[in-house]
Amino acid sequence: MKVAFYGHVKQYKKIQKKIDANLREVLLSGQYVQGPMLKRFEAELAAYAGTRHAIGVGNGTDAIWLALMALGIGPGDEVITHPNTFFATAEAIWIAGATAVFVDCCPKTKCICPAKIEAAITPKTKAIIPVHLYGQCADMIAIKKIADKHRLHIIEDNAQAIGARGKGFAIGELSDAATISFIIQKNLGTFGDGGAIITNNPDLDAAVRRLRNHGSTARNVHSYGFNSRLDDLHAGVLSAKLKPIDAWNDLRRKWAQRYTAGFEDCRTFDLPLELPGYRHVFHLYVIETKKPELRDPLVDYLLKSGIDAKTHYSIAIHQQKGYPWGKGARLVGPVPNAEANAGCCISLPMFPELTAREVDYVIAKVKAWDQAHASEGRDEPGVAQCGKACKYCR
Ligand SMILES: Cc1ncc(COP(=O)(O)O)c(C=O)c1O
Repeated sequence: MKVAFYGHVKQYKKIQKKIDANLREVLLSGQYVQGPMLKRFEAELAAYAGTRHAIGVGNGTDAIWLALMALGIGPGDEVITHPNTFFATAEAIWIAGATAVFVDCCPKTKCICPAKIEAAITPKTKAIIPVHLYGQCADMIAIKKIADKHRLHIIEDNAQAIGARGKGFAIGELSDAATISFIIQKNLGTFGDGGAIITNNPDLDAAVRRLRNHGSTARNVHSYGFNSRLDDLHAGVLSAKLKPIDAWNDLRRKWAQRYTAGFEDCRTFDLPLELPGYRHVFHLYVIETKKPELRDPLVDYLLKSGIDAKTHYSIAIHQQKGYPWGKGARLVGPVPNAEANAGCCISLPMFPELTAREVDYVIAKVKAWDQAHASEGRDEPGVAQCGKACKYCR
C-alpha cells in the first residue's frame, strides 16, 4: 500500500465543477489581474476571517514583508520571531530590511514562547511575528499583552492555520494583520502560488494595496512599490475552495484524532498537543521521536513502507549553512526547544482526502516500528517536549 503526503488531485476532483466554472468565468471575463474574481474572493475571505479587509498578494512570503513595509518597518528595526518555522518567516523580515531576532518556542506547542519575548526587546524592536505553526494558534493573548506594554506591532504568520482559533480569540483579532499562504499544499491551497493579508486597519489595507501594485492608486499614478498581486485565476480556485474549508479542516482533525488514539501506547515518540479551547487545523500532524537518533531511521522505515513522511523543519533557521548571509540577525538565549524540534520532528500524511484504510495502515506501520524499538522508548516526554515549562507551556 502507498500513502501519499498530499491529496491535491483528489481534492480537485471533489469540487472540479465549481473550480472549472470559476476558471471559465475568469477566462471569459478578459480580466485576469485585479479583476472582478479577485475582488469577489477578497470580500469572501474577509467575511470568512471576520476582518474588515483582505488583500490578495503574490504569495505568503510577500504577504509578510508587505505587511512589515506597510507598517513602516525596515532597516534599523528589529522583529522578533522563532527559529523553528519555515524559512520564509525570517526571509520576509530580511527582505523588508529589518533584523530578525529569534527566541525559543514552547516545548509542547512549538509556537513562539511568550515567556522568552520580553528579554529580546530593545529600543529597536518594532514587531513580533508569531507563527501559528502546524495549524495551531500561538498564545495571542499573552503576546498581545507584551506588545501593548512595549508598543509593538504584531503580524501573525498564518500561512499554516486558516480556520484555526485560539481560546477566546480569532486570527486577525489581536494583531495589526495576519498573513496567509495559498501555496498548493496549504489547507486552503491554489494550483500555484498565492497569498493574502487580513487586517482591521484601513491604513494598512490601503498601504498594502498600493505596495502590491507598483505603488499605484490610480492608472499612471505611482509611488514606490512592487508587483505582488494574486491573479484572478488563483482567486477563482480559492473562492471555490474557501466554501468547504471548515469541513476539510474537520476531516484533518478527524484523522489527527485517529492517529493520536492509534498511537496511545507508543513509547518512542511524542504526539502533537491540541491546547484546551483551541481549534487546531492540523496543516501538519507532527510527531517527535523521544531521541533525535531515532528520527531518520523512522522516516526511512516509513518511506520504505510506502508512506510518504516528511520533516517540518529539520534544520532550524539559525543552523542553516551560511546563516545569516550578511543579514541582520540575533539569537536571544539558547533555543533548545526549537533545536530539539528540528532534530526530532516527523510529519505523517495529513490531508482531508485520506481514507481510514490509509490512516490505519500508517498507524499499524508506526506501531510495529515502535514495538521493535521498545527498548529505546520511555514513559516520560522525549528531548523535544520536556523543555522547562513556562506558564504558557501547558
Ligand atoms: C510558516 C510559513 N510562513 C511563510 C510561508 C511562505 O508562504 P509562501 O510559500 O506562499 O511564500 C510558509 C509556506 O510556504 C509557511 O509555512
